[in-house]
Amino acid sequence: MQVETGRAAPRALGSVQSVTGSQAHVRLQVASLPGADDVRATVGKFLGIRTSTSLIVGVITKIAIDPLGGMGAGSSGAHATAQLDMLGEIKNDRTPSYFQRGVTDYPMIGDAADLITQAELKLIFDISGTATIAIGHLQQDPTIAAYINVDDMVRKHFAVFGTTGVGKSSGVALLVREILDARPDLRVFLIDPHNEYGHSFGSRAQTLSPNNLKLPFWLFNFEEIVDVFFRGRPGIDEEVEILSEVLPIAKMLCARGLGERRSTLRADPKSSGVTVDTPVPYRLEDLVQLIDERMGKLENRAMWAKYHRLITRIETARNDPRYSFMFDNANVGGDTMVEVLSTLFRLPPNGMPMTIMQLAGFPAEVVDSVVSVLLRMAFEFGLWSDGAFPLLVVCEEAHRYAPADRSIGFGPTRKAVSRIAKEGRKYGVFLGLITQRPAELDATIISQCSTLFAMRMANDRDQAIVRSAVPDAAGSLLSFVPSLGTREVFAFGEGVALPTRLRFKELERRHIPHSEAVTRSQMDSARGVDVGFLLSVVERWRGATMSARSRPEDVGDIDALADQEFSRLRPAADQIPAGGPTLVPALAPLPKVAVTTPESFFFPVDDPKPRLRR
Ligand SMILES: Nc1ncnc2c1ncn2[C@@H]1O[C@H](COP(=O)(O)OP(=O)(O)O)[C@@H](O)[C@H]1O
Ligand SMILES: [Mg+2]
Repeated sequence: MQVETGRAAPRALGSVQSVTGSQAHVRLQVASLPGADDVRATVGKFLGIRTSTSLIVGVITKIAIDPLGGMGAGSSGAHATAQLDMLGEIKNDRTPSYFQRGVTDYPMIGDAADLITQAELKLIFDISGTATIAIGHLQQDPTIAAYINVDDMVRKHFAVFGTTGVGKSSGVALLVREILDARPDLRVFLIDPHNEYGHSFGSRAQTLSPNNLKLPFWLFNFEEIVDVFFRGRPGIDEEVEILSEVLPIAKMLCARGLGERRSTLRADPKSSGVTVDTPVPYRLEDLVQLIDERMGKLENRAMWAKYHRLITRIETARNDPRYSFMFDNANVGGDTMVEVLSTLFRLPPNGMPMTIMQLAGFPAEVVDSVVSVLLRMAFEFGLWSDGAFPLLVVCEEAHRYAPADRSIGFGPTRKAVSRIAKEGRKYGVFLGLITQRPAELDATIISQCSTLFAMRMANDRDQAIVRSAVPDAAGSLLSFVPSLGTREVFAFGEGVALPTRLRFKELERRHIPHSEAVTRSQMDSARGVDVGFLLSVVERWRGATMSARSRPEDVGDIDALADQEFSRLRPAADQIPAGGPTLVPALAPLPKVAVTTPESFFFPVDDPKPRLRR
């Protein structure tokens, strides 16, 4: 399409009076403004300035009757001055004409300015193609579709902000549906705190909840498992220290029992030291046993109580049916990491590239650590697989997980979000953040999002945060934000051609997110997974956390300690009386395959307290 940028002087609405940086002032003749609403020059409308080589496109950010009056002799009517942010250019040096962001060719005093025509708007925004997704229509002209560059939006993170009820979740459902259509090879992992997205994606998404997710406790890193044992409260120093001593030993003990699968622990024999954070299986009964052993050697009664309390904590968590998603098979010690990864991140997708992670059913006090584990695994999987499987992580209520106020929230969850925000794109892990309180979301994380969708926001602080996050030229447009209607959105940044006000497409009723009471299991089996590949990823991942550098100084030689414990404890297992022990049982014979000992043998249901040696 060749867009005619030359305009006959008499038709021109105004002319350039001054140019400063990316701004221009245009003097408009008020009498010449046509009356019709749809063409009136006002804030938010686009003006075109004709230069010798292009049509510079700018948006009106301020308009006022000329302070000098403009009614002087010889004037044909009142004048107004419009302040314009110049954002891009329609170039005519090729056929067809094309739009590009940024200005290379500045206007000169006296250049003619006019409202952008419909054909020109179309050229800028109606850019359908394989690289774009249609998300709605321009507010300025509903006949023009608004397209987003899908790769620019996804690969450089995006965020959706707006008060409750303005259409954020529906907008996100729409965006993700379009993204899935356009990029079938992308996986999507959506954190759904209110269980509202279950039916928004049809058969393209599986829904995970505590009913069907197995997230073994040994995948939790040290801070996360401490948070679980201490039920979301800060850990008590001495107990945490005891735990940090025995945890790596329990992991090594378990590794010895895993037979051939132990190979993933032996990637590099020189650095086989397991740390508190290495994601390898261990058994809770080993952990309790190790603590109990140490307790037995104590002289100091006060310390004894601390060991005792720690054991009680572990066993209470272990016996809490609400925690069964993480503690089922706690004593088996099987290495299910590959299965967990393949389930969470849809490897292979089998036509279902998306996971909806419903959080509403998790015990409130562990939701944060669960989210931390999941986000961390998303990032680390990307890292250790060199981004082989691009993953978009969409996080509703993002301010809960990465609050601006560092004294609230769970540190590891923030760390996990911010790691994806800062480094994720290198490893094919992308972020979509949604919040109704942008002022409460960590600003450094917002600054990593290159495409922003700002919906109605009444709160000044929220508006200020969004304003500071968008490029200056677009900032003044945000004054509209308090007056936006439902589904209306200001879109800014890399994904959009120009900052613009648009209206999201209408979502079919059955796809509109809304909370549901009952969660549905859509788990499908992980048939045909390339287990070899997943295993190699897990191996690299573990190898890195086991390097000598990351090993805590005070833990010493875990290998040697584990050897000692292993030979010392193992014979004791044979002496456990068949009728049930009166002591904390020593280690059961380590299993070749899955252990068959009934769980009640170690943790009697009617007696959650640990049985003590004395
Ligand atoms: N794109 C849309 N298509 C259809 N209905 C919408 C759309 N956006 C919002 N709505 C309507 O507005 C209601 C609130 O939207 P919702 O997405 O839940 O807002 P938020 O997540 O911001 O609280 C929805 O239940 C729906 O009825
Ligand atoms: Mg919502």
